[in-house]
Amino acid sequence: MNHLVQAVESDNFQIMRVLFVSSEVFPLIKTGGLADVAGALPLALARLKTDVRLLMPGYPQALEAATRRKVVADLGNPLGAGPARLIEGRLADSKVPLLLIDCPSLYGRDGNPYLGPDGKDWPDNASRFGLLGHTAARLCAGESLIGWKPDILHGHDWQAGLAPAYLAAWGGTRPGTVFTIHNIAYQGLFDPSVLAPLELPITSFSMAGLEYYGQVSFLKAGCWYSDKITTVSPTYARQIQIPEQGCGMEGLLAGRAEDLVGILNGTDDAIWNPASDSYLAERYKPGDMIGKARNKAALQRELGLPMQPGRLLIAVISRLNDHKGMDVVIDSLPDLLMRQHCQFAGLGSGDAVIEAQFRALADRHSHHMALHLGYSEPLAHRIMAGADAFLMPSRMEPCGLTQMYALKYGAIPIVGATGGLVDTVADIDVQGETKAGRGFVLDDIGKASLLRAVKRANALFKDKVEWNRTAAANAGLDFSWKQSAQHYIDLYSNLLKRRSGA
Ligand code: ADP
Ligand code: GLC
Repeated sequence: MNHLVQAVESDNFQIMRVLFVSSEVFPLIKTGGLADVAGALPLALARLKTDVRLLMPGYPQALEAATRRKVVADLGNPLGAGPARLIEGRLADSKVPLLLIDCPSLYGRDGNPYLGPDGKDWPDNASRFGLLGHTAARLCAGESLIGWKPDILHGHDWQAGLAPAYLAAWGGTRPGTVFTIHNIAYQGLFDPSVLAPLELPITSFSMAGLEYYGQVSFLKAGCWYSDKITTVSPTYARQIQIPEQGCGMEGLLAGRAEDLVGILNGTDDAIWNPASDSYLAERYKPGDMIGKARNKAALQRELGLPMQPGRLLIAVISRLNDHKGMDVVIDSLPDLLMRQHCQFAGLGSGDAVIEAQFRALADRHSHHMALHLGYSEPLAHRIMAGADAFLMPSRMEPCGLTQMYALKYGAIPIVGATGGLVDTVADIDVQGETKAGRGFVLDDIGKASLLRAVKRANALFKDKVEWNRTAAANAGLDFSWKQSAQHYIDLYSNLLKRRSGA
């Protein structure tokens, strides 16, 4: 048993307090995997006896969805943004307190948290997420705002990056700080003129601070000013220290290698579990996968695809952009459908050009291809349950959650060899002798290698016994959050020990 678990079970142990800061949290608001993580990891930490509270912007949909709301602090007119309050609620029926920054002038808009209706960044994003960092720092420093101060401030992605910068600027006592990079490609870059309204000292605008090639980088602030940096898989932790994937931050991160750790994300069993998933036509579990075939038939019916059990049904559920390799999917689709006789189900949204290309293909190949452009949580679950194979040819993938959902739902993944995909999907043919393979890994991100991988998948698909054995073995894998949450707790407690000189 780990020392911390032992400690929390003894009477005199003081429970560790953690402030979690995220711009999105499932099920309140979600644009990607960050929301899934921020909705599940705090609950897993709480189950391991951590006093964790979540701070996020008070978007209208989040204020509405939070339960048991009450005002806990008047924030005044922070950063000149207009009146603001802190509202405490609960994340659905969990015990984890949720702190929402209610500042209507900055957050009182429906829709996407980052983009306006024109598809462009909200022009005041520096203020919107500056206030998130500012409020997080206020909860940690000086007089306690809500009668509770954290031992650890844990910020996620660029939107939370300024919190440790404020703490550094203000001086005085502060908690241990941890910053998690979910995707280094999104850096929160702004003109230096934002510094004055954000009330950050001009001295912070330096290489030894939040300056990044002449701009203010919220992501760099999070990395530079935090005691520990984490990212969401061990492979990505290595990749971001080299130019190819470091997006210009590789030097800083390599210099902080001692403080940088990759902790693989988990999946939330309460939400992504074919044995209890209420969206499915029929539930099934690793030991009895017969229901999967019925979900395939139901999905084909729902999507208007011919009910052909013998055709390999390949799915994509993704943000549609080049990072995710969607250009390569588009190049390959005619061959996949017409030469390799696959069916295809696509769910996603994103880049307008890629959306239009998918739409054109779906019009041309409507007999073999179904497409839903947009966002649908229920359909995402039904596609996972109905698909034979799940395609994710990412060029970069810090962790990736969907390939883990696919594994659990018995859809065999076909993935790029990067980031968390390397850490979760071993190739069936390469690992064949040990029977440890879980899917098909592309040699590189291009049409030829994608077609080769699908050809291998099709060959295995013809061997029903072996295909079903692999799918069932994958479905039985344990990706629950417990293990990852324990890694975070160890990180927090080691940091606190280091800071107290113990
Ligand atoms: P990323 O965060 O880079 O987009 P992840 O694999 O970590 O990639 O997480 C993506 C999350 O978003 C998953 O929960 C996936 O099911 C969900 N998702 C992506 N696109 C859609 C969509 N169009 N409709 C419903 N869910 C989606
Ligand atoms: C980011 C990454 C994705 C990861 C998710 C959750 O959106 O792109 O790979 O799974 O964050 O950490």
